[in-house]
Amino acid sequence: MTPVLEARNLVRDYHIPGSLLKKSKTVNAVKGVSFKVEEGKTLAIVGESGCGKSTLARMVTMIDPVTAGEMLIDGQKVDIAADGLSPEMRSKVQIVFQNPYGSLNPRKKIGDILTEPLVINTKIPAGERRDRAMAMLKKVGLEEKHYARYPHMFSGGQRQRVAIARALMLNPRLLVLDEPVSALDLSVQAQVLNLLSDLQDEFHLTYVFISHDLSVVRHIADDVMVMYFGEAVEYGSRDQVFDSPQHSYTKTLFAATPRVDVAAIQARLERRKRA
Ligand SMILES: Nc1ncnc2c1ncn2[C@@H]1O[C@H](COP(=O)(O)OP(=O)(O)OP(=O)(O)O)[C@@H](O)[C@H]1O
Ligand SMILES: [Mg+2]
Repeated sequence: MTPVLEARNLVRDYHIPGSLLKKSKTVNAVKGVSFKVEEGKTLAIVGESGCGKSTLARMVTMIDPVTAGEMLIDGQKVDIAADGLSPEMRSKVQIVFQNPYGSLNPRKKIGDILTEPLVINTKIPAGERRDRAMAMLKKVGLEEKHYARYPHMFSGGQRQRVAIARALMLNPRLLVLDEPVSALDLSVQAQVLNLLSDLQDEFHLTYVFISHDLSVVRHIADDVMVMYFGEAVEYGSRDQVFDSPQHSYTKTLFAATPRVDVAAIQARLERRKRA
């Protein structure tokens, strides 16, 4: 089967211009990373702050150009530099960011936020745009009455649902989720993760899921890639990576993560109750 996304040796350098007192420099944010994601699967990308996860996310979403390497979506080569990227190609990959407050325009109503991608990328008439947005609100667990409200009138979890709805308006093949639940309370995190999982089944979506939370990754990933200073130091199925990590960084990362032993907590509570 052709993977939905194939990345071959992706490289991204940032050039930071110098000033009178400072020399210019280059940051090698991503240093040649390759991976594939099949339809309906989730690739989780983990790694410490600054290792290049968001940079990779922006390249995959075609927001940022690649410095070198290539990317194929549904087997078709993406050439963002050539400026010839069709709206069809762009709409295939959508992104959801960590902070839905920052990514939703506070001056726009939810209805306008949801219909905007259709206005920009399609010729769908206004009435149908509205119907589609209403339908999508329900799909993400919101209500029709939310259509006319502003982002500040929602909770963090609801705002993230709006961001997910917006990302789905153009029927993408791939969603890039950059720490989508990290800013939410634990109970709300679980709800949003369940929603993502339901939507993945319903729309046959493929996910690239960036997270620093290993318990979340264990829960949602099919494959896992561990990044370290711009390189993929580990890449394999979830069980492979979790059960027998190869690289010393991954071993340290896993060892440093406290495991919540639910059974032990429950046993302790039982003992207390009896005492
Ligand atoms: N626009 C930019 N210009 C210059 N350097 C950048 C730019 N964006 C990112 N970088 C640098 O590239 C490296 C990778 O950053 P990136 O944001 O991809 O990391 P990250 O893994 O997403 O981190 P975090 O977990 O904190 O979100 C960092 O050293 C960062 O400072
Ligand atoms: Mg980031």
